[in-house]
Amino acid sequence: MTDVRSALKQGLAQLREAQVPSYMLAAELLLLHVLGRDRTWIYAHPEQEISAADAARYFELIARRASGEPTQHLTGKQEFWGLEFEVTPDVLIPRPETEHVIEVALDRLAVRELRAGRKQTFTGEGLQIADIGTGSGCIAIALAKELAQATIYATDISCAALAVARRNATRHGVSDRIHFIESNLLDGRGVRRAASTAPSVVGAQHAAPLLGNVATGSEGESPITRHGLHSFDLIVSNPPYVGRREAATLMREVRDHEPEIALYGGEEGYELYAGLITQAAAHLNPGGILVLELGHNSLPAVQPLLDAPTWTNVGVTNDLAGIPRVLAAEKT
Ligand SMILES: C[S@@+](CC[C@H](N)C(=O)[O-])C[C@H]1O[C@@H](n2cnc3c(N)ncnc32)[C@H](O)[C@@H]1O
Repeated sequence: MTDVRSALKQGLAQLREAQVPSYMLAAELLLLHVLGRDRTWIYAHPEQEISAADAARYFELIARRASGEPTQHLTGKQEFWGLEFEVTPDVLIPRPETEHVIEVALDRLAVRELRAGRKQTFTGEGLQIADIGTGSGCIAIALAKELAQATIYATDISCAALAVARRNATRHGVSDRIHFIESNLLDGRGVRRAASTAPSVVGAQHAAPLLGNVATGSEGESPITRHGLHSFDLIVSNPPYVGRREAATLMREVRDHEPEIALYGGEEGYELYAGLITQAAAHLNPGGILVLELGHNSLPAVQPLLDAPTWTNVGVTNDLAGIPRVLAAEKT
C-alpha cells in the first residue's frame, strides 16, 4: 500500500531521473488523472491510501512518461483558451502560444466592427470563418465559443484529426456551427488518400445539406468553392511550420509522438505559407482578415508575401517569449 504523498514523491523522482521537463507537474497530473481528483484534494489528503490497482496504473503511466510519451497522450486531454480538449496521437497538442491567434483574430474583428460603427457587443452574426489545419479543433472551437453566431469551416488534410476535432466540437456544444472538411488547405486538391477522389466532409449530419454535392463535384475542385463558400470574413491558420532539417533539435516528446503531418512544413518549415496566403487572398472578402501563426524563424520568409496591393494593415504579435508568433493582415 502507498499513500498520495509517497506516490507523488516516487513518481516525480522517476521522472526527474529520466530528465523529463516539468517533472513535478507531470507527476501531479498523472496522479490526478488516475485518482480522478483535483489538485486541491491531493494536497489536502497527502496521507490518503491509494488502492493497489490505482498505484499500479499510476506507476505504469510514470514509466511511459519517463520513456518520452507526452503527458497529454497519457491523460487524453489539454486545456486551451480555458476549455478542455481531447487529444490523441492523431492531433497536435494545443500550445499556449496559439492562444495569441485567437486574441489577434478577436482584436482585429472588434476593430473592424468599431470602424463600421457597429455595436460593441459582438456576436459574430453573419461572419464566415475558415480555420485551415484545424487539428484538435482548438482554434475553430475557441472562436465558435467567443462568437456565438459565427459560422466556421474547419479544414484538415488528416481525416483522423478531423474525427478528434469533431468530438471536441460536440463536447463544447458548437458542432452545429462548425463544418469539418477534409481538404488540402482550402483547396481540396492533393488530399493523399488511397481509394478516393473527392474530398470528404467529416462529420456532420449538420454539414450534409451544405456540402451535399461533394461526391458529384469535379475532381480537384475545392470543397469550399463547390459550395459557393469562397467568401470568408476571417481566415485563421496554425499550419505545420517546423523544418525537417530541425527535426533532430526537437524534444523527443514532439519528434517521436506528435503527427509528422502536423509538425513539418517542408525542409525549411515555412513552405506552406505561400500557398496558404495565395488561397486566402482568393477566398477572403475585401477587408477580410488573415491571421497566421508563425514558426520561430518564419517571419522573414512569410511577411514579404503579404504585400501591396493585395494586403494592408500587416501586423506582427510576439509571444510571451518575445518570438514573432502571429502575423495578421487585411485584404484590400
Ligand atoms: C500545427 S497543426 C495545428 C493544429 C491546430 N490548429 C492547433 O493550432 O493546435 C497543423 C495541422 O494542419 C494539418 N495540415 C497539414 N498539412 C495540411 C494541408 N496541406 N492542408 C490542410 N491541413 C493540413 C495537420 O494535419 C495539422 O492538424
